[in-house]
Parts: sequence; structure tokens; C-alpha cells
Amino acid sequence: MPDDDWRSTNLANWNERVAFHAASGNYRVEQIATDPDVISGVVDFDRQLVGDATGKRAGVAARWYFGDLYDAPQVIGDETFDLVYTGVGAIGWLPDIRGWAQVVGHFVAPGGSFFIRECHPVLSALDYDDPDRLSIIFPYFETAEPTVFDEDGTYVDRDASFEHNRTVEWIHGLAETIQALLDAGLVLDDVGEHTFTDWQPFDRFQKIDERYGHWALPEDIRSHLPTMFHLKMHRPA
Ligand SMILES: C[S@@+](CC[C@H](N)C(=O)[O-])C[C@H]1O[C@@H](n2cnc3c(N)ncnc32)[C@H](O)[C@@H]1O
Repeated sequence: MPDDDWRSTNLANWNERVAFHAASGNYRVEQIATDPDVISGVVDFDRQLVGDATGKRAGVAARWYFGDLYDAPQVIGDETFDLVYTGVGAIGWLPDIRGWAQVVGHFVAPGGSFFIRECHPVLSALDYDDPDRLSIIFPYFETAEPTVFDEDGTYVDRDASFEHNRTVEWIHGLAETIQALLDAGLVLDDVGEHTFTDWQPFDRFQKIDERYGHWALPEDIRSHLPTMFHLKMHRPA
């Protein structure tokens, strides 16, 4: 698939859903903007929301750059940062986790840190339409060929209807992600696999926490499946 196809297909799908996500209770934009205790490091990078995110409400001055992840070193340059963070739901859109990790490594300053919280690849490999079992039907390891979905709706409202429904996605195994970051020169400080999510992946997930908006499988099968992971890494000074 030519590069521009997957980028433009995903962008059309995502852009159509951004305003809908922002208006939904799941994203808790108003709560995050007004209750500092809930911010927990959450920043929204979407262009249509930058009006809210440029610091007007949070009182923080920020510079904003827009571009494809793989172009970030060209767009931002050689500046390095004390903390690099990537938001939930990001790496599944990218074909090459090693290329992504090189971009992350490019920006972490000596002595600086990298933090990621992400959807667990085992959750991404599941059949969301099987109401009875946790069945793996998609790759767990990164493959050259993407998995292409054609699904109306979105995770904050599966009954909503949109025009652009195709997405082009890739899974990256947890060790593939960690190894790619190690190969980019980072050192692993902390790794965790979790049993909650920030969204409802499929019907069997139940809301377990209103304040932070967490969902999880019913307690009797909660220990069967990792749903998110986190990594904290640093570049030696
Ligand atoms: C599921 S969202 C996650 C963003 C945010 N955490 C959220 O929950 O809204 C996926 C994000 O990945 C971004 N994205 C997808 N492909 C990208 C690419 N090739 N380069 C840069 N960003 C990309 C989209 O613009 C979108 O903001």
C-alpha cells in the first residue's frame, strides 16, 4: 500500500471523529480542563482542539508543530526534551515500530525520560465481535501488511455514523516495542501490564471508575487479559 494511501485513509477517518470524541463524556475535555487533579499528564494533540490546548485555559505557554510522526525530526529539528510522552492510541497507526522508536530516541535529551501508556497488543489482536470468548484473530507481532478495518461508529459511540470508515492499522508486540526503544539508546526503568482501559473496547467491558473513566472486563475474567501497558525509560546522561 503506498504511503500516502494509509496516511490519508487514516487521517480522513480520524478527522471526521475528532469533534465527536471531544464532545463525548468519555474524553472528559471539560473535566480535564477545569480539574487539575484529573489532568494526569493528558494533552490533546488534535488540530481542531488546539484552540483549547494552546494554554488559554491551562495557563501554560506551548509551541505546536503538526506533521507525520516519521517526519517529526525534520519538522521539529534537533532540539531534545527532558520528557517525551506519547498519548494512548498512537502506535497502532504506524507501520514500523523501530522507525517510531528512533524518532522517540531522537527527542529524549541525555538524562531525559520517555513515558508511554498504550493499548496492549493482545487486546488489539482480539475479535471484538465474539460475545462469548476472548479469541485472537489478528496478528500479535508486527507484520508488513496492515490490518484494514471498515467500521462505522467510534469507540465513544458505536452507533454513530460517519462517511470515512476505513482504517489501516498495525500491531506491534510488546517486546518488539521495548526492544526498539532499547535499540534507540533508551534504558528501561519501569514496565507494567494493566487490566483496565480508558475506553470501552467491546460490550463486556464495564465502567469501573467514573473519575478517571476506566473500564475493565468482569472480575471473574479480568486476570485473563492485559488491556494496557506502560513503559518508563530514560536516556543516560
Ligand atoms: C486514537 S487517537 C489517539 C489520540 C489521543 N490520545 C486520543 O485519545 O484522542 C490516534 C492519534 O494518532 C494520530 N496519528 C495517526 N497516524 C499518525 C501519523 N502517521 N503521524 C502522526 N500522528 C498520527 C491521529 O492524529 C490521532 O491524534
